[in-house]
This record gives sequence, structure tokens and C-alpha cells, in this order.
Amino acid sequence: MVMDKQRLLNDLIQNFRSKHKKSEAIFKKASRYLITGGSHNLRLFSPFPFYDLQCSGSKVWDADGNMYIDFWQGHFANVLGHNPRVVIKALQDYFKKSQGLTTGFPGSHQSELAELILGQIGADKIRFTTSGTLATMYAIMLAKAFSKKELVMKVGGGWHGAHPYVLRGIAVYDRGMDHIESAGLPAGIEKMIVVTKFNDIQDLEDRFKEHGERIACFILEPFIGAGGFIFSHKDYLRRARELTQQHGSLLIFDEVVSGFRFHPGGVQSLYGIKPDLTVLGKAIGGGMPVSAVAGREDVIALCGPEAKPEQKVKFEGGTFSAHPAAMLAGLSFLSYLIDNESEIYPRIGRLGSKVRKGIEEIFAAHGINVRCTGYGDSVTENSSLVGVQFLKENIDRISHPEQVWNPEVCDFELREKIFKLSMLEEGFNTFHGYGAISAAHTEREIQDSLDAVERVVKKWLRYK
Ligand SMILES: Cc1ncc(COP(=O)(O)O)c(C=O)c1O
Repeated sequence: MVMDKQRLLNDLIQNFRSKHKKSEAIFKKASRYLITGGSHNLRLFSPFPFYDLQCSGSKVWDADGNMYIDFWQGHFANVLGHNPRVVIKALQDYFKKSQGLTTGFPGSHQSELAELILGQIGADKIRFTTSGTLATMYAIMLAKAFSKKELVMKVGGGWHGAHPYVLRGIAVYDRGMDHIESAGLPAGIEKMIVVTKFNDIQDLEDRFKEHGERIACFILEPFIGAGGFIFSHKDYLRRARELTQQHGSLLIFDEVVSGFRFHPGGVQSLYGIKPDLTVLGKAIGGGMPVSAVAGREDVIALCGPEAKPEQKVKFEGGTFSAHPAAMLAGLSFLSYLIDNESEIYPRIGRLGSKVRKGIEEIFAAHGINVRCTGYGDSVTENSSLVGVQFLKENIDRISHPEQVWNPEVCDFELREKIFKLSMLEEGFNTFHGYGAISAAHTEREIQDSLDAVERVVKKWLRYK
């Protein structure tokens, strides 16, 4: 569609500014002390984010009194919506007993949470830490120590947090995705990371042929999140399992996004493929900072005091590892998901399907080429994540991140700037085009969001 994007964007920004005067003032003040007014670049969308939110269920209210239906939902962690009663109540009771802050002693909630997670994902042992970034870093260190090999293989478009082993091939497309995407890394890091193409068996086989003897681990998201909300093909994951086994490399599934999102467990069990290590984060903390590495006992044990000195991994724990309130929050949250799984997951999955189909139909009816991602295909019917990709090329289906990040294939600017602000104007906070449906979203809100998309498209047509 040919439209005057710049004029539309200017109008959207002007409207946004006029409705967010208090947020703008807070932003200006915050920017005096914080880089672009905050501590997480993704949250700081342009022209400025809204501040001081009150959040409950599907809704958020900002400093200016605007209300939004939110599909960002705590970086997609909040499967039950914002501040679910089950977690808030457990924490209130805990704090009332003057419990919950860090003590420096191990508590029993952590073993209860460990037992629960291990039972749900079918792994031997788990160790908690505080962010997905730390957990993927430790998983890789364990794999390197265990395999006694040095190379880390990841997929182009895979985001595993920000540590040196994974900062190659994330979001920059240049006839492929294998750029080193951060400064400040150890010298020679590019020789340590091998990037392969997601969902491409041939490329995976070629990489193993070339580097197989030196590959310590292959880390990937079976459902790729930041890379575009795309499920792996089953035969791709099966081949990854075979090749890692054949070469004495460890297979690490990063389930920070997919864990407890499609059912109360890892997406790996829906594929029937067991990795050596699983990384979890986001949902397992019930809104608190919890992450974990789980998996084979012989591998995880390398972080313990009994490990042989030459294989011992300094995954010893941090001050806030297994924080008492965070363990209780995770436990309350996951227990609720498990107890109510038959109501929660099919429902949010059905709403996800409705949104994906609805959005594609709305744009198609107006001659705009849009494909949604997040379709569960043969893996699950319960996909509650929705990406929206504005296509420049006529393709039927998006199956790898290189399509999402290639500016000749997908219009990233249109999605992240114009569609984002257009949907905000309608009262919906979206991310990656739409985002995550939670158990707190009502059918009415979902239908309203589709009606909003329809109004957005009609508005855009006026800028032709
Ligand atoms: C798949 C995946 N792994 C790891 C991370 C890093 O987690 P954190 O932001 O908690 O460090 C993220 C964050 O979004 C992620 O999506």
C-alpha cells in the first residue's frame, strides 16, 4: 500500500504527545538520570513511553489517566494478566508474617518450586538464578565444561539475553544473520559462536559437518520469540537432537518465552524431544525475577562443590538467587496454572487463533499484505502469542527470523512505529505487532482489539 507514512507518523506522534503530557514530563526528568529515560531499551518506545502504570489483569492505567488493554503483559510473562490475585495474596500473607525479603538462607519454597517444575518438564535437577540472560550463560558454561569443547552454536534471530556467548546473529539482517551485535566483547568471540539458520536442516547439517567436533552446544528456542514468534518444525528439532548426540554436543532448549506459555510445562514435551538442558525464565517467577537451568543431573552437577576441579562451573549462585518472595510467587503462579490448565490454555489459544485469523482477514480485505505469526501448526492448538508481519514480498508463511528481520521482506518500521502508535491511539498496547493474550483478557476485549485494527486500517487509507 502506498501511503504517506511520514505524515501519518507525525500525526500519531502529535496525538500521542497531546494525550501523555504527564508521561512526557516524567520522561524528560527521567532522561536526566537514565539513558533515554529508563533501564530497558525495549520498553522505551518512541517518542517516549508512558509511565507510572497501575496494572491489573488485562488493563494498565498511565500517569495521565489513559487506560490501555495490554498485550505486552510483562515481556509476555504474565499468563494470568497483571498482578494476579493468587500471587498477590500469597505474597501479602508472607509479608504480613514479616517474611519474604532476602535472608541469605535457603527456604523450602525453592525445593517445592523445583519439584513442581522438574515434574512438569521431566528433568533431573534444576538450579535457580535471576534472569534469562544469566541462565543461558550458565547453561552454555555447563555445556562447555561437560563436553570439553569450545564452540557455541545458535540460530540467526535467536535471542538468549545479553552475554558474550550469544550476541551474534540476533536482529541485524545483511544477506543473512551472523553479525556480532555488541561492542565490548572479549577478543576473538566471533570465532567462538557459530550461527545456523532456524528451521533449515540442510544448514544445520552443513554446520555440524564443518565444526561438529568442536561444538559444545546448540542452543535454540524451540519456539522462537524475539525472532518472530515461530515454532520450530518437528523434523528440524529431531535432526538437531540427532546431530548433537552424534557429535557429543549438548542440546539446550531456551524456553524462557515458551515455558508455561502453551501448557504448564515446556514446549519440548509437545514435540516429544528432550534436550540435555532447558533454560526457563519469565513465567516461572509469577512476576518476580526467577530463571533456571534444568536438565541432566550429570551436567547440572558441575555447578556443585563435588564436581571435578577441571570441570567445575562457577554457577555458584548470586545474592538474590532463589529469593524467598520470588520462589513463593513462582510457586503460587505455576500451581495455579497447573490446577487450571484445562480452562486457561485452550481458551487463550482459541483467542490467539481468532486474533491471528482476524488480523490477516482485516488487512487482506483492504489489500494490505500481512501475515501473522504464532500459529501452533501441528505442535499446539493453544498458542496465545501473536506477531504481525507487514510483508513487502508476497509470501504465504513466515518460517524463519531471516524473513522477519530482512527489510526487503518485512516492514519493521511500519509494525514497530506506525502500527504500535496507531493501536495505542485506539487504547491497545501491542508488542511485535500484537503480543500475548492472557487468561485475564475477555472475549469482548479481544473482539474490540480486532475492531480497533479495522479502524486503524481505515485511518491509514486516508493517508494514501
Ligand atoms: C528466549 C529468551 N531467552 C533469554 C532471554 C533473556 O531473559 P532476561 O531478559 O530475563 O535476561 C529472553 C528475554 O526476552 C528471551 O526471550
